[in-house]
Amino acid sequence: MGPLSLLFLQTILILGRAPVGRSASGGGDEEEYWGMVRREGKQFVVGGGRQPFYVNGFNAYWLMLLAADESTRAKVSDAFRQASSVGLTVCRTWAFNDGGWRALQKAPSVYDQDVFKALDFVVSEGRKYKIRLILPLVNNWEGYGGKAQYVKWGKAAGLNLTSDEDFFTDPTVKGYYKAHVKTVLTRVNTFTNITYKDDPTIFSWELMNEPRCLSDPSGNKLQDWIQEMAVHVKSIDSDHLLSTGTEGFYGISTPEKLSLNPNPVAGQVGTDFIRNHKTLGIDYASAHIYPDIWISKSVSNDFLQFATKWMRNHIDDTESVLRMPVVFGEYGVSSKDEKFNATFRNVFIDAVYSTLLNSTRRGGSGSGSLLWQLFPEGTEYMDDGYGVVLTKAHNTSNIISLQSKRIQIFNSRCSWKCHWSCKKKSPSHPHLHREL
Ligand SMILES: *[C@@H]1O[C@H](CO)[C@@H](O)[C@H](O)[C@H]1NC(C)=O
Ligand SMILES: *[C@@H]1O[C@H](CO)[C@@H](O)[C@H](O)[C@H]1NC(C)=O
Ligand SMILES: *[C@@H]1O[C@H](CO)[C@@H](O)[C@H](O)[C@H]1NC(C)=O
Ligand SMILES: *[C@@H]1O[C@H](CO)[C@@H](O)[C@H](O)[C@H]1NC(C)=O
Ligand SMILES: *[C@@H]1O[C@H](CO)[C@@H](O)[C@H](O)[C@H]1NC(C)=O
Repeated sequence: MGPLSLLFLQTILILGRAPVGRSASGGGDEEEYWGMVRREGKQFVVGGGRQPFYVNGFNAYWLMLLAADESTRAKVSDAFRQASSVGLTVCRTWAFNDGGWRALQKAPSVYDQDVFKALDFVVSEGRKYKIRLILPLVNNWEGYGGKAQYVKWGKAAGLNLTSDEDFFTDPTVKGYYKAHVKTVLTRVNTFTNITYKDDPTIFSWELMNEPRCLSDPSGNKLQDWIQEMAVHVKSIDSDHLLSTGTEGFYGISTPEKLSLNPNPVAGQVGTDFIRNHKTLGIDYASAHIYPDIWISKSVSNDFLQFATKWMRNHIDDTESVLRMPVVFGEYGVSSKDEKFNATFRNVFIDAVYSTLLNSTRRGGSGSGSLLWQLFPEGTEYMDDGYGVVLTKAHNTSNIISLQSKRIQIFNSRCSWKCHWSCKKKSPSHPHLHREL
């Protein structure tokens, strides 16, 4: 797709987009449309439950970091603008940066206000470009601090901690995390004056990015932590959706499903897809899709077979056992593999999309996916191999646009709950019923 047709598509999307409550007065139907996304059964809904909300999204974990520097802040707007031009509506980005360079949280409960303002900017730009945010609250990995940083803080405070996994059990360290959660959720955005916990721009919270607790393969340690923290989040913010952030490996609560994991080790990292998502307070299930990390370093059609089977199983389980939506919060293939080619990435993305549409068509639990990851031009230096620059990847842009349009058709229909009454109830949005 050339720049002209991209512009054309952008125009269509802008013209076709619902009016949103950006006026200072707010209120009324317009404000209602930019409402909280909620869950009804195995479907996400907006607009008081009238419209379904299927997700086509992307990851850009670094937004706060680039917003914290005047010289790179515009890249945040670029990322949202470009994502919006291909119809993406949800972005997953870190709401943490612990210790280290340009940290949000410099020490337990000590915040860099300039960095917090950068996160405010990210949230307010999300609203501007009509892109909702999934915000994980800590990392399992060491990037941006993670559980290791929390344990370091605990040790510095004189606690007898022996492993990074004491993050999940030590009362003081758990207290640090709970305080961070409370600080973020009750933050008043300095650009919009909207408290995070009241802001519909935030699609959901995730307890942690890819939690694992290797020291307890039984899964009990992590499960206890998820239970305690889910209650904590909901006690502060009962409005927003909450998920775990897990990769979706099956655990020993479902021994018959262990063989569906990409490898035997995956069943022993302390996570347990079914059990973790049965937890009170968890609204939807989280799984990731990384055949090139989990199965083999070498690109092949096995990746496609694994991805579609992995997705189908998670969709079936969330439908029949968990009765909730499932979002594939990260998926991608790395260009660092020797056999990688751009065509294969497109085929892979297409396979993820088709599998989801197969669920969406019959009103199933498969509720969305988020590509890992998008970069605007000029930020490729951060590319981990998975990066897609939309303005340079026209075929990928086309595939994403097409999926966005298909999803938009489903999102403009009535939710299952109000199949007959909703058209009458929402006369102010006739465009919502126009099929793109
Ligand atoms: C620290 O904890 C470890 C493991 O729980 C224990 O073996 C050790 O004795 C403790 N050390 C002190 C100084 O309390
Ligand atoms: C936020 O609140 C302050 C203080 O009440 C006010 O001065 C400012 O104009 C408000 N900003 C927005 C964007 O509403
Ligand atoms: C791209 O990679 C796939 C998977 O390895 C392979 O089947 C295909 O032939 C490759 N295409 C090109 C153009 O190299
Ligand atoms: C893009 O799509 C065109 C038409 O299908 C194809 O000829 C071309 O090889 C594709 N390029 C890449 C990089 O996938
Ligand atoms: C679509 O879903 C049905 C029902 O789960 C399944 O039997 C079928 O194999 C799926 N097709 C694809 C292409 O995923």
